[in-house]
Amino acid sequence: MGTLQLLVGQIITLTIERMAFDSDYGVGRFDGKVIFVPRTSPKEKVRVVLTKVRSTYAVGKLEQILEKGPYRRLPPCPVAGRCGGCDWQHIKYEEQLKQKQGLLSHILTPLNSYGKFTLLPFIGAEEEFRYRNRIQLHREKNQVGFYARGSRQLIPVKDCLLAEKVLVEHFQNIELRAKDTSLPLQERVELARLVDGSILKQFGPPTAETRFFAQVNTRQNDVLKNLISAKIQTSNHDEIIDLYCGSGNITALLLQLWPRASITGVDLSKTLIQQAQKEFKSILFENLKWVVSSTAQYLKEELVEMKKKCSLLVLDPPRVGLDRESCHWIGELSPKEIIYVSCNPMTLVRDLKLILAKGRLRVDSIQGVDMFPQTTHMEIITILKNRV
Ligand SMILES: C[S@@+](CC[C@H](N)C(=O)[O-])C[C@H]1O[C@@H](n2cnc3c(N)ncnc32)[C@H](O)[C@@H]1O
Repeated sequence: MGTLQLLVGQIITLTIERMAFDSDYGVGRFDGKVIFVPRTSPKEKVRVVLTKVRSTYAVGKLEQILEKGPYRRLPPCPVAGRCGGCDWQHIKYEEQLKQKQGLLSHILTPLNSYGKFTLLPFIGAEEEFRYRNRIQLHREKNQVGFYARGSRQLIPVKDCLLAEKVLVEHFQNIELRAKDTSLPLQERVELARLVDGSILKQFGPPTAETRFFAQVNTRQNDVLKNLISAKIQTSNHDEIIDLYCGSGNITALLLQLWPRASITGVDLSKTLIQQAQKEFKSILFENLKWVVSSTAQYLKEELVEMKKKCSLLVLDPPRVGLDRESCHWIGELSPKEIIYVSCNPMTLVRDLKLILAKGRLRVDSIQGVDMFPQTTHMEIITILKNRV
């Protein structure tokens, strides 16, 4: 740590080394102290004014780019930087992938003490724009837009470069809703392009019945499933449990790979399980079952108490990851193979540490897939294998 006393309002010069996780902050150092500067990019020399000073780090506001970095680009979207959606649109796509790989590798460091594993390179997206089949907008009077970063200030938009074009075509209809004076002045609007091509419009906050989950990036979802398939198709499995199955996105792949296996999809959402039952009703697999349950309860009641067999366990939790109880049971049960699909490297590492601490499983490989270009979000596939 350096010796200089930094002060709010002080102007300093530094070089950005890398991007930070989960934000648009570039990270550099000044006199040994970590400095975060929003909307900068690696290898650029910047002059910043400090806005926050803490004992171990400081935050600065970009005053001037003294030497432009090799990865900076003009963001194609006119509201990039103001709208809270894209963190990294000002960074060239190849570099976004390198930054994600570097962050993932760094976040996974604590796993090294549980044995060797392979960290494979991130799989990038062919299309870095127009990939979202689902977006959340806000309408305020006759304006449609997104909230600004960290606030509820509406940034009106006529387009969103992350959204599939077919969704953008509906922005104007939403603006026109303002003519109906019986409607609220403000509302949340969700637009989704469904598998059959129809557009779902949901006004107001979702209820337990209307809340749904589907992978937002259709093309990369196929890439993800192909990758999972390539990683595990040579294994033999007869008893498969797909935890956090949603409406059966990964279950469909499991059915293709092991048509004779007994497969159970488990999800907390009754709506999603009903959707899965509807979508899979034409498939006459006696061995396919759907269960509405929490993961922890299912593991405890079916696998531990009823001693249901399981050779392959699939986990695809939301960003919060698994709960402690589920990690405990998974480590104890230690099936032959586990596929853990995560959208949050922090909770992934936390969960893997708990599972690996039991000593029965090892991490075989970890690989990122870019489902969310222009943002810091990442999807990660981990393959765990039984040690015996
Ligand atoms: C990231 S989604 C994965 C969905 C599905 N695997 C897919 O690829 O579309 C997470 C799912 O976990 C479900 N979920 C959330 N908490 C849960 C819990 N405690 N137990 C079981 N399912 C849960 C949600 O309903 C949601 O469907």
